[in-house]
Amino acid sequence: MIDIQTVTARETFPVRHPVLRNGRPLEDCHFSGDELGTTFHLGAFEKDKIIGVITCLMNKDVHLEKIAAFQLHQCYQLRGMAVLESMQGKGVGKKLLKKAEQLLKEKNIRAIWFHARIAAVPFYEKMGYKIASGVFVIPNVGDHFKMIKVL
Ligand SMILES: CC(C)(COP(=O)(O)OP(=O)(O)OC[C@H]1O[C@@H](n2cnc3c(N)ncnc32)[C@H](O)[C@@H]1OP(=O)(O)O)[C@@H](O)C(=O)NCCC(=O)NCCS
Repeated sequence: MIDIQTVTARETFPVRHPVLRNGRPLEDCHFSGDELGTTFHLGAFEKDKIIGVITCLMNKDVHLEKIAAFQLHQCYQLRGMAVLESMQGKGVGKKLLKKAEQLLKEKNIRAIWFHARIAAVPFYEKMGYKIASGVFVIPNVGDHFKMIKVL
């Protein structure tokens, strides 16, 4: 049984580190905006162990303006979506993303966007997100696409 709870930025590190920043210093797991009052983090727990994480930050992107005149407070960026390797492909990521979307809808958020690693694009497409850019490189991480969903 998987339980989704709100966690602190620091509590995401046991998942962010091995999945997203493997082999790099633990401090590299910190994201700009992690501690802002508008930011929240969710953890997926199996028993007492955190096995998946997602971070939601209030932030706007220029691509959103091509869709509608969204205000900053209507837009959230997703970051740090990750599931421990041994737990991937079991529905944990889907559960985390659905919970994040539900909470964002409750906050009247209209648009969600993020930079998706190429390998994760099919996962996000299944969840209704659309590619909104050409491919671009994030240094030390790899090739990405911008993806967007209007709620
Ligand atoms: C991408 C990630 C978060 C997905 O989480 P997950 O728990 O493995 O995914 P789920 O099991 O919830 O999958 C949900 C659906 O997406 C599909 N899916 C998941 N990953 C996929 C992939 N890489 N390619 C194609 N389909 C995929 C599943 O088959 C499932 O389909 P279904 O609903 O028809 O059964 C996870 O695999 C991960 O942490 N990957 C490494 C880090 C990463 O790339 N993070 C994203 C950074 S942008």
